[in-house]
Amino acid sequence: MRIYLIGFMGSGKTTLGRLLAAKLPDYAFVDLDRYIEEREGGASVLELFEHRGEGHFRELEHRYLQEVMERYPDAVVSTGGGTPCFNRNMELMLADGVVVYLKYSAGMLAHRLGSARTVRPLLQGKDPEQLRAYVEELLPQREAYYGRANVVVADPDKNMDRLVDILRPYFDRK
Ligand code: S3P
Repeated sequence: MRIYLIGFMGSGKTTLGRLLAAKLPDYAFVDLDRYIEEREGGASVLELFEHRGEGHFRELEHRYLQEVMERYPDAVVSTGGGTPCFNRNMELMLADGVVVYLKYSAGMLAHRLGSARTVRPLLQGKDPEQLRAYVEELLPQREAYYGRANVVVADPDKNMDRLVDILRPYFDRK
């Protein structure tokens, strides 16, 4: 089965995805952004955005999401914050496996992103106030997609046993 972790930038998809995959015997962990970078000859997401534009990045994201679906029968896939919101990717993921939304408030996300070291193309050059305003504007738009997830985990912690328990019915079904 494939388990997709979705959520806004800064919601810990990569960290929790890695922890979750480690709990599940024989499950691979795939970080979609890193996968795209590898398949694009090592170009960073930032470079892909800056040199080719967001539209091109969204095409790559869509293409490689489908490639991951074909390549990994059992995997935890950490997506990018925008993945569910473009190119019917949410429909694809919902039809393919179980989708888990890691949910935080806008204030919490702005706080987490304010101290993050990762450089994100959509957040570059924003001061803390602009960052908060941006998250407050974009989060509700994105929740229209995120909210369709099979499982919503509010303020997730690193206790993966709880998440594995929540996911158990899906393992039995698929
Ligand atoms: C994006 C989120 C990023 C990355 C790209 C676009 C977005 O991933 O895919 O910069 O549109 O929210 P993270 O959510 O891992 O930061």
